[in-house]
Amino acid sequence: MPQPSLSFAKPAQPTHGVAVVFVAEAATLGRDATALDAEVGGAIVRACSKAAFTGKLAQTLDIVAPAGSELDRILAVGIGKVGDLKSTDWIRIGGVIEGKLAEFKAEAGTVLAEIPGETLLSAADTADLALGIELRGYTFEHYKTKKKDEDKAPKERKVTIASEGHSAAKKAHAARTAVAAGVNLARDLVIEPGNVLSPAEFAERAQKLEKLGVEVEVLGEKELKKLGFGALLGVAQGSARSPRVVIFKWNGAKAKDAQPIAFVGKGVTFDSGGISIKPAAGMEDMKGDMAGAAAVTGLFSALAKRKAKVNAIGAIGIVENMPDGNAQRPGDIVTSLSGQTIEIINTDAEGRLVLADVVWHVQETYKPKWIIDLATLTGAILVALGKTHAGLFSSSDELAERLAKAGEATGELVWRMPLGSDYDKLIDSTFADMKNTGGRNAGSITAAHFIKRFTNDVPWAHLDIAGTGMDSTQTDTNKVWASGWGVRLLDRLVADYYEE
Ligand code: BES
Ligand code: MN
Ligand code: ZN
Repeated sequence: MPQPSLSFAKPAQPTHGVAVVFVAEAATLGRDATALDAEVGGAIVRACSKAAFTGKLAQTLDIVAPAGSELDRILAVGIGKVGDLKSTDWIRIGGVIEGKLAEFKAEAGTVLAEIPGETLLSAADTADLALGIELRGYTFEHYKTKKKDEDKAPKERKVTIASEGHSAAKKAHAARTAVAAGVNLARDLVIEPGNVLSPAEFAERAQKLEKLGVEVEVLGEKELKKLGFGALLGVAQGSARSPRVVIFKWNGAKAKDAQPIAFVGKGVTFDSGGISIKPAAGMEDMKGDMAGAAAVTGLFSALAKRKAKVNAIGAIGIVENMPDGNAQRPGDIVTSLSGQTIEIINTDAEGRLVLADVVWHVQETYKPKWIIDLATLTGAILVALGKTHAGLFSSSDELAERLAKAGEATGELVWRMPLGSDYDKLIDSTFADMKNTGGRNAGSITAAHFIKRFTNDVPWAHLDIAGTGMDSTQTDTNKVWASGWGVRLLDRLVADYYEE
């Protein structure tokens, strides 16, 4: 089933398919829902009362349309207390609606988007509702060749959002749909298996962003060797597939030479651990070890599609971490692009090696205002924060605070973790400038310190998304393994603080 096709229209009584009505707490209906209720002989009010449905946020009541009505069903959706509703609640309500429409295999749904007692649902809230529908509407079914009869869904689902403010809502939605497409692109990349999504294939898909007006530069193995990406190449050398570094440039600022902001992503298309090989159980999840790079790719798609007024650089380091006769060994010493040497203690601590060179390259080449990197970096962040918050590490209080605010606004939450010299010294090495692991304790922090050594004091934030980026929590807007985490957070950060 492809994405639902959305449209915005003025309020009118729905004539077919599923009608969706909002019920606020204490079972109150809005103007349009009340009119519909009259048309179906009071079936909505009666069903709510018999089912003791009071309109708690995100609760639903499925009402089969009474005989004589042209509708199939009426779906009552609780919106809780009017006045309490936040943007994230409207996104969630959209998710709940799309979940039900999919369950019904509905070909058409009409949402009577109104607020009981107030009538007008703001353009922003209506657009958020639509965003929720789009996020929940995502599916990944390319590899399912055998569809059971009972699974057969209609080819298309038309969802109409009917509201007084429909034209303003449609305008507000243009930016949201760009972001939803970015999230869904990131999800596609994360779920795509390692045999299909090699570094070369990832780079090819990234190159498609050129169609949106993003400048895309791909560095292949030869160029990376010439430039001296020694840390990244050390990881890649055990794989039969050669690495890539992809650079995105989006120049949307009015002042064409405005200093850019920069995003860096870890793109390990499969992380076997290398010679320090991982245990078999759950290793299949390591196809998602490129969720950071996927989020950066999705973000640039979103920025371009909504024509963000900002200059931004994106850079993703794409490698496969495999064990073979040519693989990197524990004990090896590599020279990074920065010139600093690294003793490899554990070949499974590969993400930081990739990031070290890409972060250095970005600060040196593009002189950004700041760098934010995203990486499925450590299992330890799962131990610390689970799947609810990403770990945030930053050398800049301002950037950290802004990320936290964007997190609250989008529901993609971050939690700031400490940095400090006592942690930093844990990665000093006896034989080289540093080593790639700092021992069992504070594993996410020492990993962050490793990256910090390659920032050259450019303001920086690191998001450890090992918990949030893959095998994600199932929510009303996400029922898939890959959440696309980070696209909405970073798009919001840009929109709220860095556009002219
Ligand atoms: N990709 C993993 C981290 C990871 C673990 C992501 C679980 C998602 C879920 C990373 O490359 C890794 O292997 N980290 C090691 C570091 C250790 C060897 C210092 C880890 O966390 O165990
Ligand atoms: Mn690893
Ligand atoms: Zn990894």
